[in-house]
Amino acid sequence: MRKPIIAGNWKMNMLPGAAVDLVEGLWAQIAGFDAVEAVVCPPFVDIPAVGKALRDGSMSLGLGAQNMHWEESGAFTGEISPLMLLDLEVTHVIIGHSERRQLFGETDQGVNRKVKSALAHGLVPIMCCGESLKQRESGQTEDVVTNQVKCGLFELEPAQVSGVVVAYEPIWAIGTGKAATAGDADEVCGMVRRTVAGAFGADVGESLRVQYGGSVTPDNVSELMSMPNIDGALVGGASLKPDVFARIVRFT
Ligand code: 13P
Repeated sequence: MRKPIIAGNWKMNMLPGAAVDLVEGLWAQIAGFDAVEAVVCPPFVDIPAVGKALRDGSMSLGLGAQNMHWEESGAFTGEISPLMLLDLEVTHVIIGHSERRQLFGETDQGVNRKVKSALAHGLVPIMCCGESLKQRESGQTEDVVTNQVKCGLFELEPAQVSGVVVAYEPIWAIGTGKAATAGDADEVCGMVRRTVAGAFGADVGESLRVQYGGSVTPDNVSELMSMPNIDGALVGGASLKPDVFARIVRFT
């Protein structure tokens, strides 16, 4: 059985004080609900304060970063290393979000290095993939997504791949209010699973958790989560309000 995982990607929002209020407000509404693994991914500068709030309040929420460098230390101005994240008790890390690929030039090779490094350091990578509107309209979705998944997981051991979470986020659905239909999302998430099964074995494909992301709300989450290949959600805008994100986490 794959335990559903629902993560809030706060992107570049929330100062530390507001970030603490957000997790406290969230926890007040989901404490004791353990059917879903819930994760919050604040900006780097909020992580110390959010981590302290989680520990002080004994909140069993995952703490995720939104990016990291693959090296442990060195001359990489502006970057954050896996050791720095571990020191702050970070558990998860989003890797290769489409905003990082499109706006900051991240490549499949860089994503692969980061996924390898996250796994080597015991962090759960949430590796993102997804096609643009132009790619979808020209029938390239399968090629684009399977290529991103194969490149991102290149040279990993099958046992490692079971520990990766793949987030399928079609770029045209991010922040637009136009989520993919549950059927379309499931089709691509199934494609991701088959790609992984083909490369790493049927068992690994079966155990892989695949999230859908892109305009997930309390209104569409139940249908998305009812699909056979969707094991969770990566949520942007709707994760910034505690009551709204709590309704998503408690989708059942
Ligand atoms: P929205 O939920 O705001 O569409 O963002 C999705 C996303 O990019 C999560 O990583």
